[in-house]
Amino acid sequence: MSIIESNDLHLYYGNNEALKGITMDFDQGGITALIGPSGCGKSTFLRTLNRMNDLIPSVTITGKVTYKNNDIYSPKTDIVTLRKQIGMVFQQPNPFPFSIYENVIYGLRLEGKHSKEELDRIVEESLKAAAVWDDVKDKLNKSALSLSGGQQQRVCIARVLAVQPEVILLDEPTSALDPVSSGKIENMLLELKDDYTMIMVTHNMQQASRISDKTAFFLNGDLIEYDKTKKIFLNPGQKETEDYITGKFG
Ligand SMILES: Nc1ncnc2c1ncn2[C@@H]1O[C@H](COP(=O)(O)OP(=O)(O)OP(=O)(O)O)[C@@H](O)[C@H]1O
Ligand SMILES: [Mg+2]
Repeated sequence: MSIIESNDLHLYYGNNEALKGITMDFDQGGITALIGPSGCGKSTFLRTLNRMNDLIPSVTITGKVTYKNNDIYSPKTDIVTLRKQIGMVFQQPNPFPFSIYENVIYGLRLEGKHSKEELDRIVEESLKAAAVWDDVKDKLNKSALSLSGGQQQRVCIARVLAVQPEVILLDEPTSALDPVSSGKIENMLLELKDDYTMIMVTHNMQQASRISDKTAFFLNGDLIEYDKTKKIFLNPGQKETEDYITGKFG
């Protein structure tokens, strides 16, 4: 069953058409990698899936995106709820200048309906799921900004997990990190992929082939090819895909 679908999705920044009619669907669970050269529209597309482009005034969108068969661009959609269901992790770790504990429960504090015991439990579970509990369990009240970049990114992932999303969008989540930290995050994403639907932009072809189930290749605002990752990397159907993954351009 697909959990998110986009249908003939076009996005314009002013007159510049950045997405030229993207039709694709995402199965529940697993990791989909979005690949393609710089400027091809990967981040733009990712942001359309939880309406992050709403914040950019020049943007016009046509076509449709549905989450569990509901049109996310419908006026009835509550954006705060949508962004809890479809969480997002960015390229640069972006912890708030608060304690590690307060970072993780940020979304729950806004709801204001959890007891201290519940919050403690959620903090521990989320940090464990994000594979950073052992690093931080003795300093939960220290500032999240005091952590390394890789630890900060895992705390940011814990913050997303704490609100129990179904879908997690990740825009180059390891590109600002060293190989060891990236490896930890890759392993963690593999652990999470049965429980969450993850859609991840990456420039790292090894990363895409190591951890994703499906891969989508974008070029100039078009979706060129979308298939099982093995097929894309071993036997792509389109010449452009082959040229890109073999490093001929991009
Ligand atoms: N906020 C914005 N305002 C205007 N144009 C934008 C904006 N963001 C992106 N664009 C344009 O939209 C196109 C797609 O950009 P996007 O950031 O989605 O590409 P990308 O595939 O994520 O690239 P990269 O791999 O470099 O991150 C580019 O031509 C870019 O210049
Ligand atoms: Mg991008």
